[in-house]
Amino acid sequence: MSLLRIAGLSGGYGDVDIISGIDMVVAEREIVTIAGTNGAGKSTLIKAAMGLLPRLSGEMNFNGIDLMRLAIEDRIRVGISYVPQVRNVFGTLTVLENLQVVEHVTGKPQRIREMFELFPALAGRRGTYAENLSGGERQQLAFARALMSSPRLILLDEPSAALSPALTDQVFAEVRKLPQAGVAVLMVEQRARQALAFSDRGYILDSGRIVLTDTGANLLANEEMGDVYIGRGHGAGSPGTHAQI
Ligand SMILES: Nc1ncnc2c1ncn2[C@@H]1O[C@H](COP(=O)(O)OP(=O)(O)OP(=O)(O)O)[C@@H](O)[C@H]1O
Ligand SMILES: [Mg+2]
Repeated sequence: MSLLRIAGLSGGYGDVDIISGIDMVVAEREIVTIAGTNGAGKSTLIKAAMGLLPRLSGEMNFNGIDLMRLAIEDRIRVGISYVPQVRNVFGTLTVLENLQVVEHVTGKPQRIREMFELFPALAGRRGTYAENLSGGERQQLAFARALMSSPRLILLDEPSAALSPALTDQVFAEVRKLPQAGVAVLMVEQRARQALAFSDRGYILDSGRIVLTDTGANLLANEEMGDVYIGRGHGAGSPGTHAQI
């Protein structure tokens, strides 16, 4: 059964539709990647799922709940979490403080300990200001903040943005662990070739519309679309591949 089901979703920030007629599903413990050209509306679609878009029509259902009626805080309560593309941690707070400020919202003190077990690198850095973490550690902290509410679906907007190839591999390794922890992933990625190699399925977005959807493997094998939308690679997910789209 699908965890998230989106049907005929259209909307934008003003009068103009940025996303149009979007149909999309994410099953439990699935990793789904959204790829597409710059400005295609990928971040807008993620924001719509979190309830951050001012104008929206269509259907969004999460685990049997009508999401269209829910405010952001209620979406978090039912099990959706969001990691924005940039500025996703408080630089002037320590690692521990970054988690403590979310604990006030989620009300689960034991969750911080669980996060340090899930991300051991952060445990040793608990007193470090987030602005002094490496890019990879900072992204782990952003994930940990989003996981504090024990979500069943995490929305990731370009988790590899501004990271070196080595740190990208590290962050993608963390993403791949999320389904084992019971969390489904809906992720936007510029490094689409690398992301699709470990995604169950993918959607390709162009000018606010889905132009193709298939398994990650089939999208990678689709030469015609691959050239246009996911970049040419030297084998799926080869280390250091910068799939620009
Ligand atoms: N807050 C906003 N207010 C008005 N228009 C916006 C806003 N955010 C994005 N847009 C517009 O919506 C369109 C899609 O932007 P969006 O950020 O969703 O694209 P994207 O696919 O995530 O692009 P990128 O690959 O560059 O991250 C763009 O034309 C952009 O200018
Ligand atoms: Mg974006």
